Amino acid sequence: MTSRVIPVAPFTLTVFGATGDLSRRKLIPALFHRDLDGQIPDDAAIIGVSRRELSDEQFRIFARQALSDHIPAGELEGPEVDRFLARLSYVAADADAEGGWSELARRVGAFPGHIPVYYLATAPHLFGPICERLGKYGLAAEGRVVIEKPIGKDLKSAVALNEQIGRIFPEDRVYRIDHYLGKETVQNLMALRFANALFEPLWNNAHIDHVQITVAEALGVEERAGYYDTAGAMRDMVQNHILQLLCLVAMEPPASLDADAVRDEKLKVLRALKPVDDLNMAAVTVRGQYRAGASAGGAVPGYLDELGSSASQTETFVAMKAEVENWRWAGVPFYLRTGKRLASRVSEIVVGFKPVPHSVFDTNVGPIESNRLVIRLQPDEGVKLWLMIKDPGPGGIRLTHVPLDMSFAKAFKVRNPDAYERLLLDVVRGNQTLFMRRDEVEAAWKWVDPILEAWRGAKEPPRPYTAGTWGPSAAIALIERDGRTWLEDGA
Ligand code: BG6
Repeated sequence: MTSRVIPVAPFTLTVFGATGDLSRRKLIPALFHRDLDGQIPDDAAIIGVSRRELSDEQFRIFARQALSDHIPAGELEGPEVDRFLARLSYVAADADAEGGWSELARRVGAFPGHIPVYYLATAPHLFGPICERLGKYGLAAEGRVVIEKPIGKDLKSAVALNEQIGRIFPEDRVYRIDHYLGKETVQNLMALRFANALFEPLWNNAHIDHVQITVAEALGVEERAGYYDTAGAMRDMVQNHILQLLCLVAMEPPASLDADAVRDEKLKVLRALKPVDDLNMAAVTVRGQYRAGASAGGAVPGYLDELGSSASQTETFVAMKAEVENWRWAGVPFYLRTGKRLASRVSEIVVGFKPVPHSVFDTNVGPIESNRLVIRLQPDEGVKLWLMIKDPGPGGIRLTHVPLDMSFAKAFKVRNPDAYERLLLDVVRGNQTLFMRRDEVEAAWKWVDPILEAWRGAKEPPRPYTAGTWGPSAAIALIERDGRTWLEDGA
């Protein structure tokens, strides 16, 4: 089965930080894949910018290497690689100095009629200076700017950054990426909820017992320890990816998939989150930090060893009980969990339904488990609906809990595109539905700030957990106190 591909309008994409990690691992491979599928028009241009002095040819060599590092060799055999590389050129420029900017303006100006897109794949402290220079060199008019987290480290710094960008680019041309929104299964959550009549009548506190959102990683922080130590799991994962997932589960049906219709509904969810502060922090949050342990069959060091410091209190794990205080969700806990160096890499949303009100069966038929809808983001993207059925056989009724299992890989024989493929072209299409609006980012910080503040004031450091496990035992206690249990693979 092949997917439908509609070419986008001609664009000139300028990538700042073009020789960095994000560009190498994600942007260049994503653009190539879209080009391979014929979605990028012939005259679209990609300009790499960074401080390094490189010729166009040297940048193409860099990009060719990025492709061979991240794309299976079989997909790199045709003439498409050279066609893609021919789109690339390079300008050396410094965000904090004038050199190179006139040349960049000349290159972008060579493509009149193109949609100018500026992707800031740089350290966040450069977002402001780059935007200012884009304005100064006449590049911002009509241009769209793409930025990615961290968008600030708290509400105050996020507001300051948004102001700085907003002085040059109006909100309808600012694209704040949360790459989780570009994941296939996350978009599928909207399809499941709003393209089926089945779920929406049940999607409320009358029928849903609780929701679990887990984003677990098996890897540690490794060479990113420097950045990670200034962030921690709350800023790195909860403030953005996990809250966005929560919003998509909890939001009211928007009137359309129009960007503001969807983002208005997400914003209402963020504003309805029950505040967590030093009064309830201990009851509803658990933070942890991994110690040495085992992963993928080998010994792995602890966080402090990777960081090379014994003093850090940065959390590498968070478990929380969140509540959305509105009519639809009152009384339904949303258990959130994320961490590095956990037992396996799995991201999923489990919607746990309430038990049947009364059993008509004899007690010896076995327990009647509650229905669950499991939306698996990765790996093995798919959806499972757990139901009770009769165990097959002639010997009378025995009940068993089984999943209706829809694995996307098995059902659709297509490559699962990377989130950046969708998101990059949405910028060109001018579609902001899957991007975070300024007020969403700020509302998320408004909820997160008091939690971070309460943790700072707490006497206890993050709880240690052994690498390769499911986090500190307090995280298990957090949910078991409520008579529920974390579900891995929804089971
Ligand atoms: C990033 C975080 O935003 O998401 C990383 O900064 C994390 O720490 C990554 O590893 C997880 O993304 P994915 O797509 O691999 O689940």
